[in-house]
Amino acid sequence: MSDKIKPDWAGDDLLSRFVNVLIQTKPIYAVMKQQARQVLVKTAEKNGIPWRKNYEELEVSGAKERLESITNPSITYPDYYQVPFHAYEKGNLCWPAAFEAESATYAMALRVWPQESLSWQEAQARLRGSFHQVLATHGPKLVRDILDIGCSVGISTLTLHRYYQSSQGTPVRTVGLDLSPYMLAVAQTQDVNGEIAQWLHAKGEETGLGDRSFDLVTLQFLIHELPRQATQAIFQEALRLLRPGGYLAIVDNNPKSPVIQNLPPVLFTLMKSTEPWADDFYTLDVEATMQAVGFENVVTVASDPRHRTIIGRKPE
Ligand SMILES: C[S@@+](CC[C@H](N)C(=O)[O-])C[C@H]1O[C@@H](n2cnc3c(N)ncnc32)[C@H](O)[C@@H]1O
Repeated sequence: MSDKIKPDWAGDDLLSRFVNVLIQTKPIYAVMKQQARQVLVKTAEKNGIPWRKNYEELEVSGAKERLESITNPSITYPDYYQVPFHAYEKGNLCWPAAFEAESATYAMALRVWPQESLSWQEAQARLRGSFHQVLATHGPKLVRDILDIGCSVGISTLTLHRYYQSSQGTPVRTVGLDLSPYMLAVAQTQDVNGEIAQWLHAKGEETGLGDRSFDLVTLQFLIHELPRQATQAIFQEALRLLRPGGYLAIVDNNPKSPVIQNLPPVLFTLMKSTEPWADDFYTLDVEATMQAVGFENVVTVASDPRHRTIIGRKPE
């Protein structure tokens, strides 16, 4: 692990400010955005992820027909969410983002172990397995109710649900929650056996779910998409939702990881150009924020070369 707590390309360092000026220069940003996308799709297909095929199949999967019924019309989207993300002009609020999320998730896992020539399926299993391992060691001993906030198209939700179902051998009730009804429509379509109790369109900060109704709340690759106030508000909401002795578990990019700190300039510039809240995320003291909200026994594990898992308990 590096002694530096964050990469030089994030926060207020000179390098970071230079990159931010590049990104804020509209014509340069437009080119970078396109480039980031092309690199992503080309690399994924080279590694066997059927990016365009997945997209075409989802277009005719019936997901679009689910949009209306899954949408909660009373939601007001926060400003921080209504900005371009991942090179999509409408961020997570559009079909292209939802139809490409699965392939993008597989591609992300492949980038974690570039030297090991894993298949995308192996890399995905290893990525999720490393998170589950930390939960097994430091998390709840018995889980009945799980909430996966920022569930996107449901890969994290289904994998976590199946992990507890099979490792515990007792029934588990799992809810996947997201602010994008497009993502949720895809998640519901992919959940062909109806394993997940509910795909819920809500804000992580204000879920409308009952007090003390979950044993485990997870934020898997969510908080790098959030400004710090939203992260803190979601921690507060998780504390309310958990039963005493329940756990909040977070997995996301690790600012202390040497791989992340030493990303080549082209890659970190591309990354920052598609992640509007990267500076907030890389400079936030996540553990201190969890403790300030009221979590105890906060433990951090570098669960793979790029990511860390942080887990904390709600006091009894
Ligand atoms: C990178 S994806 C998460 C991926 C997924 N959990 C996984 O591990 O594969 C982040 C998701 O968080 C959702 N999101 C962002 N802000 C949110 C908020 N305030 N409340 C609920 N969901 C949010 C986005 O719509 C997006 O689908």
